Amino acid sequence: MSGRRHLLSVGDLGADGLREILRLADSFAEVNTRAIPKVPALRGRTVASLFFEDSTRTRLSFETAAKRLSADTVTFSAGSSSLSKGESLRDTAQTVTAMGVDCVVVRHRSAGAAVALSRWLDAAVINAGDGCHEHPTQALLDCYTIQQRLGGIEGRRVAIVGDIAHSRVARSLVAALQLLDASVTLVAPATLLPPAVEAWGVGLSSNLDDVVPRADVVYLLRLQRERQERALLPSEREFHERFGLSAERARRLADHAIVMHPGPLNRGVEIGAEVPEMTCATISEQVANGVSVRMAALFWLLGVPAGIASPPGAEVSPAPEPASAAEVGGD
Ligand code: NCD
Repeated sequence: MSGRRHLLSVGDLGADGLREILRLADSFAEVNTRAIPKVPALRGRTVASLFFEDSTRTRLSFETAAKRLSADTVTFSAGSSSLSKGESLRDTAQTVTAMGVDCVVVRHRSAGAAVALSRWLDAAVINAGDGCHEHPTQALLDCYTIQQRLGGIEGRRVAIVGDIAHSRVARSLVAALQLLDASVTLVAPATLLPPAVEAWGVGLSSNLDDVVPRADVVYLLRLQRERQERALLPSEREFHERFGLSAERARRLADHAIVMHPGPLNRGVEIGAEVPEMTCATISEQVANGVSVRMAALFWLLGVPAGIASPPGAEVSPAPEPASAAEVGGD
């Protein structure tokens, strides 16, 4: 659709788009500290979640974000839908948008699913994870968390550890960190690195013990067995010994350094069982920040007129300056 904004990949956003959404997220983080964390910014808008893959935090986070902006929400569950009767992605999505939906948040096992929907539908599309390809709002919330804990992203040394090959989180995060001038090292066995990783412009290591003391951020990824087509590791135990961040390894981090994880966690595999509760770990902050960042993303797509007429009675027209986004009211 011409002129309509979508949020499909970090590359599409560019450094300016990333910075704009991170700035907006600050305003919404303030809303989320209020006794009633709700503003009427998207009243009259409808946000549909179309999740064709399992999700706990991403789906709840988007739904919470939409409700806190006073949007209406509708939810589609692959398991209980007509998909089992053979309906295609395109027909399913067109059915949902025919009901008058302004934004579709989609998660799908196929890379490119969100881009395809953005061409087919008359609605803004947010990619909430497409196969091993991208997960841009996760990268945004991770950048927001790094900024909040470390005061900035530029020049920070970020080690991303684990199953990079099957991780859409890693692809989006590397792209975002590079746009924001951080320095990235991937730490993984050769079997869990993606093909042509040399072209990514990142450091590579297979020795976590070398990397830990010099990192500002250690970002851990789960073994994504559901996407691995063959056995890529001798055993989880061996993976933990070489690439897991045990409590003992975490104690060798610099004092200011942080440990991040997008969830779901597999304690005792990529992360030591006690590490999520250590003060260096930001896992709950990432989840909390996810709501503010997704409020910012939804507002960036739907609150700013970008070829979209303002809904009757909308308080947010024309678009406010980023700093005033949260001042649109507090009902
Ligand atoms: C990730 C995902 O689904 O891509 N989780 C998330 O969105 N928080 C990572 C994963 O599944 O390991």
